[in-house]
Amino acid sequence: MKDRDQWNSKVGFLLAAIGSAVGLGNIWRFPYVAATNGGGAFLLPYFFAIITAGIPILILEYTMGKTFRGGAPVTWARMNRRFEWLGWFQVMIAFIIAVYYFAIVVWVVSYIGFSFTQAWGADPSSFFVEYLGLTDSALNLGGIQTSLIIPFVIIWAIAAFIMYKGVSKGIEKACKICLPILFVLMLVLVIRGVTLPGAVDGLEYMFKPDWNALKDPSVWVAAYGQIFFSLSIAFAIMLAYSSYLPKKTDVVNSAFITATANHGFELFAGIGVFSIMGYMAMMQGVPVSEVAGAGIGLAFMTFPTAISALPALNALFGICFFGALFTAGITSLISILQAVVSGFHDKFEMSHKKAVTVVMVPAFLLSFLFITGAGMNILDIVDAFINNIGIASAGVIEVILVTRFFNPEKLRQEANEFSNFSIGRWWVFSLRIVTTVVLGIMLFLNTKDYLYNGYGEYASADVNVFGWGTILFVIVIADALTTMKGKDGYRDLDKIAYKEVN
Ligand code: ALA
Repeated sequence: MKDRDQWNSKVGFLLAAIGSAVGLGNIWRFPYVAATNGGGAFLLPYFFAIITAGIPILILEYTMGKTFRGGAPVTWARMNRRFEWLGWFQVMIAFIIAVYYFAIVVWVVSYIGFSFTQAWGADPSSFFVEYLGLTDSALNLGGIQTSLIIPFVIIWAIAAFIMYKGVSKGIEKACKICLPILFVLMLVLVIRGVTLPGAVDGLEYMFKPDWNALKDPSVWVAAYGQIFFSLSIAFAIMLAYSSYLPKKTDVVNSAFITATANHGFELFAGIGVFSIMGYMAMMQGVPVSEVAGAGIGLAFMTFPTAISALPALNALFGICFFGALFTAGITSLISILQAVVSGFHDKFEMSHKKAVTVVMVPAFLLSFLFITGAGMNILDIVDAFINNIGIASAGVIEVILVTRFFNPEKLRQEANEFSNFSIGRWWVFSLRIVTTVVLGIMLFLNTKDYLYNGYGEYASADVNVFGWGTILFVIVIADALTTMKGKDGYRDLDKIAYKEVN
């Protein structure tokens, strides 16, 4: 196929994969998901999900991408023509995530600016609500917030610039620049966090298990959802990224490096965030659970309060925190977009630039929804449904198709072919039995819960439109794209030659 890019080097690929994995999910999402799912209780299902699903699926996706060399739909189609639908389902999930991910990065950019003077004042929660022009429901749009337009345009321009440059010249380069900056910013924050009085209480809240929470299926689904979101698996990203790999790549090693870097960073960031929460709880004389339970607003309501409460250098720490969110967010955002772009590029054989335009224009238009007064409410519902139902079911269907309708042993051999250490049969067992059963049951129970009890405090109309509506939208468009005729050669693997690099 013409115009199919490849990573410049294996290190370049790893940096891009880590750049994709390490994102808002690690700094913004992990602390609030952990906090709302029992704090330390969350860590047990979290580690269980990493070992039984995260790493095995990452190895699986690297192997599939490298072997079948297409964006998700084409890779699935090459394995079996009837599997193409799943690829589009995953691509459409990525599309939806890209659209709301933008909004969060937009808030982050504004908050970098606010950090200089701590413009949020004495009451950051009210400030955030006012900044968003937040309405009382997801269906009450309340118009576009004009103050969000400039950061919105800036982020779109940066993302478009990187995307048009392509995989090796755009994405790989951006990750090489952003990742070291991110690490330094996080290091500053964590050192500050753990040296504050009260940090210990925050860390105790993060690490102390509450065994009772383990009985709740939603905690398990949240853990799997977080792992999938955080590792960028089951929604087309890692399939797309590994499709630009040379044949002789050690995928097992690469998967372990990516997972270790990602989850190491996630826990590291969590230590920083929870230490600061502990400090804040001590200053306010309340339990940590109270300050950490702000849900989606944790980074924008609770954290600014903490930044203002620091004894010195408040602006610097504010810039570090939101700067870290920004660098992490950009490298993930472009990976989410690339997952969608590669889907179109590979099936319809359009040029890279055209595929970028085909994806970014509708994403741009849709993302306006998230800078209306209802933006945060819509985002909260869409994020919950797209992760806990969309990604979770994409993950279950993925492992079922691979292990029941395709020979996973063949993939295991592919994975091991160029790997320093080989994966054993545990890999197939984890996918075929553990992930399928545990995630399948939890997904079923959680979906039932959403069906009967709705989501959060939202009215059922809001949940129907933005929760179930999003899932329906993803399914219908995935169906339509599967039915559309691709270029004749898109199943013909031999037409793509590997370029070997060091
Ligand atoms: N993996 C990305 C994140 O954690 C999507 O934000």
